[in-house]
Amino acid sequence: MEIHIHDIRDFGIGNYRQVDDYPYGGGGGMVLKPEPLAAWLDKLLAERTYDEIIYLTPDGKTLNQKMANGLSLKSNLILICGHYKGIDQRIRDKYVTLDISIGDYVLSGGEQAAVVLTDSIVRILPGAIGDEMSALSDSFQDNLLAPPVYTKPEVWEGLKVPDVLLSGNHKTIDAWRLDQALEITRKKRPDLLGNE
Ligand code: 6GU
Repeated sequence: MEIHIHDIRDFGIGNYRQVDDYPYGGGGGMVLKPEPLAAWLDKLLAERTYDEIIYLTPDGKTLNQKMANGLSLKSNLILICGHYKGIDQRIRDKYVTLDISIGDYVLSGGEQAAVVLTDSIVRILPGAIGDEMSALSDSFQDNLLAPPVYTKPEVWEGLKVPDVLLSGNHKTIDAWRLDQALEITRKKRPDLLGNE
């Protein structure tokens, strides 16, 4: 995994390396100008091919595990972070292949969303976490929330670890975990099971 961070001011216009300007039609905020973004994108696209050019935006498709899984199989991705009011629509029309939001709330920029998206992809790459099986049993990996977990001591403040986890019987343990996952999902996120 390699991450390259690009400062579009390197492609800014004039002595002030301008990258933003007032929106046509008025209203507050600033819009990222098309020329610096296009110069940056053209440079990247001349170097290699990209599987997706992603724009992080609240009007994008809400990120979920399935999308992260799919993106983890790709080779090269460009993430565009808007700021202020976003980027000129013509850049979206000409270059962007995928719009992604990380949830129904507004952030001041796409940068934090890019960090979230990046982590959701990187953590499932082979070798990214110690126990490679672990990512597969996380919450959401099969649209289920994760079952409860316990570690030593066996009894803490009078509270005991469920017997089944100490049984050494992996079949029984797996069945218990699935049962717990289903129960917790039904209680907390029935929408994940297709029920409301
Ligand atoms: Cl991707 N960007 C911004 N600015 N706000 C957001 C978002 C993205 N996803 C949710 N809120």
